[in-house]
Amino acid sequence: MKHILLILAAALMLSIGCGSKQSNKQMDMKDKKALVVYFSHAGENYAVGNIPVGNTKVIAEYISELTGADMYEITTHKYDSMSYKTCCDVAQEEQINDERPPFEGKIVPGAKNKEQARIIDNPTQADFDNYDVVFIGGPVWWGTYPQVMFSFFDTYDLNGKVICPFTTHEGSGLGNCVGDVRANYPHADMKKGFSIYGHNVGNGKAEVEQWLKELGF
Ligand SMILES: Cc1cc2nc3c(=O)[nH]c(=O)nc-3n(C[C@H](O)[C@H](O)[C@H](O)COP(=O)(O)O)c2cc1C
Repeated sequence: MKHILLILAAALMLSIGCGSKQSNKQMDMKDKKALVVYFSHAGENYAVGNIPVGNTKVIAEYISELTGADMYEITTHKYDSMSYKTCCDVAQEEQINDERPPFEGKIVPGAKNKEQARIIDNPTQADFDNYDVVFIGGPVWWGTYPQVMFSFFDTYDLNGKVICPFTTHEGSGLGNCVGDVRANYPHADMKKGFSIYGHNVGNGKAEVEQWLKELGF
């Protein structure tokens, strides 16, 4: 009888231990300071016509809304008003030549931090150092992220951070994006990526929520 009680007590302690470990893991992600870094191209695009807000931006905003993460949009005027066809040609040329188009951006507070935080124009590396988790997202252009995102990767060091990559696309899924981010930040903790068809982002909030849950948010 004494033995049985001991075994039961040990099993109970184990299960309590496991339970708290799980919730700690989830608490960890929720407590970390997160930033969504993304590029998104509004205008004429494949399968969606002429859109005022790019597909990836819609997903980036869901992530910020659901996690409270701040946002940094990689911006350039290079592709403004281009037809889809011209944009494809320009992007292909950039990739072949391994170009690094110039970009700008600012860190803006996430939906839940609007009152406490300030907008940081053209942030420094130190501003990025404030974040533990960085979501990185963009459209797939010719199988990977647009070259302007590689300009960002060359400028800011995100090694040592948790990186959660995502894409919007029209068939390539994550393409080579995860591998290319890993190559740029070999010492980051890369989490499972998320991808969604660009023409489907309007219905994609639940899928984003599911991915965030799996990551522990
Ligand atoms: C220049 C260019 C290249 C593209 N290349 C691909 C590709 O290789 N694979 C793919 O699945 N979709 C490709 N697409 C489609 C985009 O990935 C898709 O429309 C995406 O949702 C656009 O996101 P955005 O509106 O945030 O820019 C391409 C679109 C453009 C404009």
